Amino acid sequence: MQTIIRTIAIALLASPIALVAQSGNVNLPQDKGPKQIDVSSYPAPMQKAYKTFETKCSKCHTIARPINTTMTKDEWERYVKRMMHKPNSGISNSQGKEIFDFLAYDQATRKDKNPSKFYKSLSDEEIEKLRAQQQ
Ligand code: HEC
Repeated sequence: MQTIIRTIAIALLASPIALVAQSGNVNLPQDKGPKQIDVSSYPAPMQKAYKTFETKCSKCHTIARPINTTMTKDEWERYVKRMMHKPNSGISNSQGKEIFDFLAYDQATRKDKNPSKFYKSLSDEEIEKLRAQQQ
């Protein structure tokens, strides 16, 4: 009985810490933009990949974050890996590849044609600064 209570107490104490570590607990400017993409004119494999992207990339922050961020193809490749390697990301290698293909296609189709409508990705320093301001 004691052990059970202790386990529950530890779990309750530890969960907010885990949550903070996951979400980064910071609001970025691009989080406020649209939360969906009209993919009706995208090829079928990209429409399928969009679903994977929506499910996997909205776990720790709003899906608006990647939807409204513009990056080069190389940066997306690095970024998807970075997100995959976060603890408990739940993104497999093949899902990461599918999501990257989608982000690269969407970048070329939607974002590159209208760059001023999107947010450039922030540096680690800029994110840390926002985090400090928001606390
Ligand atoms: C395990 C939690 C987690 C998952 C899953 C996750 N992210 Fe993130 N993401 C973060 C955190 C935390 C940050 C804040 C920056 C940092 O700590 O790296 C972030 C920041 C970002 C940014 C902001 C970049 C910038 O510099 O402005 C983008 C874009 C992004 N994520 C895209 C994605 C995509 C695409 C996926 C799906 C492949 C994804 N994220 C899945 C936790 C996650």
